[in-house]
Amino acid sequence: FNVPTVTNEPVNSYAPGTKERALLEAAIQEARAQEVDIPMYIGGKEIRTEDKGKLTPPHDHQHVLGYYHKGTKTHVNQAIDAALAAKEYWENLAWEQRAAIFLKAAELASTKYRYKLNAATMLGQSKNAYQAEIDAACELTDFLRFNVSYMTEIYAQQPPANSKGIWNRVEQRPLEGFVFALTPFNFTAIAGNLPACVAMMGNVVVWKPADTQIYSAKVLMDIFNEAGLPDGVINLVYVFGPDAGEVIFKHPDFAGIHFTGSTGVFQDIWKTIGQNIHQYKTYPRIVGETGGKDFILAHPSADLAVLNTALVRGAFEYQGQKCSAASRAYVPQSLWSDLRAKMEQDVASFKIGGTEDFGNFINAVIDEKAFDKITSYIERAKNSADAEVIIGGEYDKTKGYFIHPTVILAKTADYETLSEELFGPVLTIYVYEDAKWSETLELVDKTSIYALTGAVISQDRYAIEEATKALRNAAGNFYINDKCTGAVVGQQPFGGARGSGTNDKAGSMINLLRWVSPRTIKETF
Ligand code: SER
Repeated sequence: FNVPTVTNEPVNSYAPGTKERALLEAAIQEARAQEVDIPMYIGGKEIRTEDKGKLTPPHDHQHVLGYYHKGTKTHVNQAIDAALAAKEYWENLAWEQRAAIFLKAAELASTKYRYKLNAATMLGQSKNAYQAEIDAACELTDFLRFNVSYMTEIYAQQPPANSKGIWNRVEQRPLEGFVFALTPFNFTAIAGNLPACVAMMGNVVVWKPADTQIYSAKVLMDIFNEAGLPDGVINLVYVFGPDAGEVIFKHPDFAGIHFTGSTGVFQDIWKTIGQNIHQYKTYPRIVGETGGKDFILAHPSADLAVLNTALVRGAFEYQGQKCSAASRAYVPQSLWSDLRAKMEQDVASFKIGGTEDFGNFINAVIDEKAFDKITSYIERAKNSADAEVIIGGEYDKTKGYFIHPTVILAKTADYETLSEELFGPVLTIYVYEDAKWSETLELVDKTSIYALTGAVISQDRYAIEEATKALRNAAGNFYINDKCTGAVVGQQPFGGARGSGTNDKAGSMINLLRWVSPRTIKETF
């Protein structure tokens, strides 16, 4: 087979005066002018109930974007039945046909639906235009296209040897049952990719998005449907609390979970699956990307401008709500006062407000629960003898859930915000004595209960080598002289181990291989 050549989707800048900017602004206006009514999608049917949830922009929580129809255990059961009913047709379809549907979805996401999907991500999840573009328009498209290319390679891979009179082959079967996709609010691309890449490999899916991402999830579903996805292959339900899990994890045909979300939820799911293990036909695949407490480690040789950019972009883009966000930094004493001055200057220049004004760099955090959690850490830091809030620290939820970019200076290496995940625009800095570089390497590794992303900033090749070795297990994505966010599909496969997940690298062949169960066939002539 010829593996198609894939390149990353070009990123629009949305600079003032561009045609793309006008199109995106029009899509935002259109979305704001109407209230949408969002059904569940089960077996290709739109399902509406009496129990409706309200969707509002996190930066303007009095404005109603629309309503979605909540389901119950009955709907989860119906979604499983619909998935299993679609299974035979879908898994027997030539894989090229499945590939074509997802390539068409990529085409639709990057053209016809581009502005609508970005506008939904901006309004529903409070991403600014650039963050929405690299997520919804580009990363989603990249996931779909690159995964089709990896899929092609997977089906082409065959045992390298055949003895005389023998033909050996490997058949990549879909999993025996249905897969549950449980997706996060913070990346529209991840929300779309988790069900899509599972389905691509011939599986059927029950998809439950975060309640804060339903607005863009609906656009994703429209894209999959218009691309020709058969009824029942991906079933989208809005069932919250323990209800969905109670049905899914007890079902004999439960064959796997594709998860992105918090470490605590993932661990609870793993335990539940363990408790029910005797009920399943097959061992379920458990694939999850969970929390992060990602670090930037500066060596005394670091270039100050590179370090500053890595910190402010890594920590504050999308209000720090990336599992990859830089949320702790280790800075040598010799660089600290110059760095602090630079950061203060940069942060003071950031405009904060709604996503509709493209000049705002910082928007709101996702909801009140997140706002309250993050601000409680800020308040504790203000009142702690072991920490000092040196930049930001202000917040206001009157109109939207706004938190100013905040820097906490930790005076002890075990201060709580150096190890606990806040998932917000808060960076904690620990200043170390220059002579204690080796001890700091040990400290960073020891504090990495999570191990998703990390970066070393240094101009000294020997120090880069030392950090790369010492922090081998502290990050699944390790960056040298760059921020620790913004992995690009096809370039930096993304994922971490320890408390950060199963490290099955999103957008890679490793991940797709989790969704097939190979059968080896030996034929003798
Ligand atoms: N892939 C994203 C990043 O690298 C996080 O999910 O920032």
